[in-house]
Amino acid sequence: MKVFKTPRDMQDWSEEERRQGETLSLVPTMGYFHDGHLSLMKKGRELASRLVVSLFVNPTQFGANEDLDAYPSNIQRDLALAEAEGTSAVFLPSRDVMYPQGYQTYVELGSLPAHLCGLSRPVHFRGVATVVTKLFNIVQPHTAIFGSKDFQQLQVIRRMTADLNMNIRIVGCPIVREADGLAMSSRNSYLTPEERRSALCLSRSLDKAETLVRNGEKNSTVIGKALRDFIDSVAFTEIDYISLCDPESLEEVAEVSSPVLLALAVKVGKTRLIDNRVIVF
Ligand code: PAF
Repeated sequence: MKVFKTPRDMQDWSEEERRQGETLSLVPTMGYFHDGHLSLMKKGRELASRLVVSLFVNPTQFGANEDLDAYPSNIQRDLALAEAEGTSAVFLPSRDVMYPQGYQTYVELGSLPAHLCGLSRPVHFRGVATVVTKLFNIVQPHTAIFGSKDFQQLQVIRRMTADLNMNIRIVGCPIVREADGLAMSSRNSYLTPEERRSALCLSRSLDKAETLVRNGEKNSTVIGKALRDFIDSVAFTEIDYISLCDPESLEEVAEVSSPVLLALAVKVGKTRLIDNRVIVF
């Protein structure tokens, strides 16, 4: 497995692989791998002859009071795991290489960031769209794979790729969960054992909402209130948002119709967690 630290070296390798007729898939990550990341790598291996994994904690997608400096990291372990998944190359740039002195170009997005996580993380999706565009230009993949726990991120990237005519297939993969239902996240490592138990309220809320919908409840306010009451009763929690919305536009819906996206963000202790489910009925 090759490890490249500069865009030029990564680009040269990708160009040569493409010239030789290989197909490239990219799994963009911020590292600290769990089974969710590994499932994306497996998908990447299936869809192309060469898998590239990028490992970069992107500062432009973190707000001033967020966890950029505390973000968990274990690069040696990540490299070993990526290699075991059959990765051909890892792109591991520094912050200075990605955003050198004088850097000033960003991808501006329309209405998608005005919902869900974008409301409490105003610079987040601009940073994501910018770094993903840079990674696409550097790695030049045919296919890029993203998890659907960050559902809004996946929609932003699909929209951006279509709007900017990027010749890259975007593939979304299902959320990978712990045995008890907690969606896997590098940020779960911040949770104390008590908070870890409280964090189950996210996946349980999805189950509760799905049951309500299947039992005929279609009013978003009623469903939202039931979830709010439930989460508020769980220790260490603070709700950021609970949204029932259109899975494409992310616009809130008053009356639930199929399919509907239920998305939520909850702070458990100091850790902000997200989860979602598309309910089809
Ligand atoms: O989902 C992530 O880990 C990040 O947002 C991504 C796509 C790697 C961009 O930094």
